[in-house]
Amino acid sequence: MINKKGSRYVKVDPWCIIEENFDKSNMRVLESLFTVSNGYIGTRGYFDEFYTGDTHIGTYVAGVFEEIYEKPSYKGVPNRTQFVVNNANWLYTRIIADGEELDLNHSNFSEYKRVLDLKKGILTREFIWHTEKGSSFKLKFERFISMTKSNVCCQKIEITSLNKSGKVKIISGVDFSHKHRIYDTNYWEGLFKSNENDYISIGCKTIKTNKISIANFKIEANKACEQGIVEGEKIIAKEMVFDIEENETIEIEKVVVINSFDRLNENLQSKNGKLCQSVFGQYSYSKLKQEHERFWERMWEEVDIEIGQDSENQQGIRFCIFQMLQAYSGMQQVVAGIGAKGLSGEVYNGNSFWDSEVYCLPFYLFTNIDAAKKLLEFRYYTLPQAQQRAKELDLKGAFYPIATIDGTESCTLWQHANLQLQVSTAVAYGLYHYYIVTKDEKFLFEKGTEILIEVCRMLESRCQLGQKDGKYGFFGVMGPDEFHMMVNNDFYTNYMAKKSLEFTIEVLKLLKAKDEKLYNEITRKTKLERNEVERWADIAKNMKIIQDPQSKVFEQHEGYFNLPHIELSTIPEDQIPIYKNWAYDRIFRYDMIKQPAVLLCMLLYSCDFSFEEKKANYDYYDLRCIHESSLSPSIHSILACELGYYDKAYEYFRYATRLDLDNYNRNTEEGLHITSLAAAWLNIVYGFGGMRSDTAPIKLAPIIPDNWSYYSFRIKYNGAVLKIVVDPQYVTIKKLKGADVELMVYDKTYTITEDEIKIPLQKRR
Ligand code: BGC
Repeated sequence: MINKKGSRYVKVDPWCIIEENFDKSNMRVLESLFTVSNGYIGTRGYFDEFYTGDTHIGTYVAGVFEEIYEKPSYKGVPNRTQFVVNNANWLYTRIIADGEELDLNHSNFSEYKRVLDLKKGILTREFIWHTEKGSSFKLKFERFISMTKSNVCCQKIEITSLNKSGKVKIISGVDFSHKHRIYDTNYWEGLFKSNENDYISIGCKTIKTNKISIANFKIEANKACEQGIVEGEKIIAKEMVFDIEENETIEIEKVVVINSFDRLNENLQSKNGKLCQSVFGQYSYSKLKQEHERFWERMWEEVDIEIGQDSENQQGIRFCIFQMLQAYSGMQQVVAGIGAKGLSGEVYNGNSFWDSEVYCLPFYLFTNIDAAKKLLEFRYYTLPQAQQRAKELDLKGAFYPIATIDGTESCTLWQHANLQLQVSTAVAYGLYHYYIVTKDEKFLFEKGTEILIEVCRMLESRCQLGQKDGKYGFFGVMGPDEFHMMVNNDFYTNYMAKKSLEFTIEVLKLLKAKDEKLYNEITRKTKLERNEVERWADIAKNMKIIQDPQSKVFEQHEGYFNLPHIELSTIPEDQIPIYKNWAYDRIFRYDMIKQPAVLLCMLLYSCDFSFEEKKANYDYYDLRCIHESSLSPSIHSILACELGYYDKAYEYFRYATRLDLDNYNRNTEEGLHITSLAAAWLNIVYGFGGMRSDTAPIKLAPIIPDNWSYYSFRIKYNGAVLKIVVDPQYVTIKKLKGADVELMVYDKTYTITEDEIKIPLQKRR
């Protein structure tokens, strides 16, 4: 069991994240929680105005990265780290009245409140500022990043004078001079500034990678004022001085368009101009806000989860869904994956991991299929880099990087970058899962086949025959359990490889039968030979999978059963997290595992394993898993639901929806745990809802936790939007939109038409 303590930072509310009292010491945790993003641009919830306290001013744009090189060491060990670089602070604001500059670190203020409205996707903050000379101003800040226009950010400021007339100076613009926090460096070089159009622009480029970001903005005020321009090397802003009367409200609306380009060329400004015109020429702040709110309204109709009589999890799960939809929408201007922190912080460098296909993809598959497809397309467009990486590792085919932004390996920890094959098999699994759920043969054939062929080539060249047993396996690898490295015949690695090979063979057969022309084109392009496919079949058939015949437990890797045991309950609390408190090599000497590997396979390929096998393996590995990754508890919870361990299932679920909201891992200040947000959704839909999607049609087998009066979830499946309501008596399935669909509930097939169906709730064994 896990023993983590959370803290309460925000008020519990079904639709809003509310901070009522400003506590400076929580600033960076709340900045992460109040992140607004659209998957292309992401901005932490830092203050718009000047603030001298502890803050992390961070805005990130997908695919816009810098890099750092280390000295090359052994062959195949990567020596370059890429990171999504801290980009333009488009909220840059300074407010001066009575000769005093507003700064909540020093200024006098009251009635502070910050609210992220999940229903509308809008962040607001308001308070009353009392100047030393006795003026009081009510301030309201509003911001959103458009979910309908990828490159548009919007900010509104309202200032009401409560007791006096006088002057208020507002400086508002865009600032590229902030440092990338982790490396304490600013990575931008100024290119140009312009104030010639009806908007103001500033262009900067990154030092090493030559990525160009141009931020353009237009400000509308509800009152005339004295105006000027304030400029610095990497900053440009508009200065406005207003005469304000008592009880008058000044409103300033700022629309910012951020465009990024890969290469410096003379067309840059004209391309930027066109992109700006298509926004500034047609959209006002209020029109953008209206479209944005309408997007969220429509989205919630299709993705909401309701939980009766559990207000904390209700808020928690909506927060998870909201942040997942913000974190990746597939709207970016460049080919990009989803970062482990989305665009909410700098830890993990904005890199994508295997998390994308294994944890995040299922969420998008059932909520936003376009985003799901874009995630897989990212792997298609970065196939050449994966092929290059395979060469560096003396392998054939494609070896997908463990951490990446542009498809190249960006993790300089060799034990991960060189030993973890799990991204490559995750990509193959993602294609399988996408195909099973969507039946999109076009995508599978046109983009998936090449990837699959290259992944199989890599697997073939990496696997070897054991001397004694004559079985195929992988030697010197690390599976998802990162507490055991350089192991042989890791169950997860071998099993996922076997499934990748088998699926590829099936796809090739299907493609040949359905579209011989394309089959010939692809086999010609990839130079695929018949005997290669025969070899893959042989490897898949003779892959070593170690299972104890009596107990039915799969050995996580060869020799694992013989490792010294450690009772997890004997590890003192102050030694957690282990990775920070134990010498690195000490961790590897026990049977303690960081996160599920065998059990994860049992979820991904659920129908391959019997109930008895699942139970035996759960009982065994649950005692050995310390859950030191936020990817872990939900997987145990999902299996516990299937096995009828309801108390355990709820206990593990406890950490899922509020991991960031209550900062259980004590590191939310670094950014949101995107994969864990996805896992929380999985925990409800695959856990309590009992959904399994590794076969078609999908299966449901709901249960309900004792303390919930009901819960409901919605999924988009085969062109329909379905709402599944579970209460202590019944499972009710209703089609909200779209075509009739088939699905299985408790192993019986139903067709869902206009009439809702009601099935008595079953207890699992
Ligand atoms: C986990 C990995 C995961 C990474 C990024 C690590 O702590 O062990 O499995 O890919 O975090 O989320």
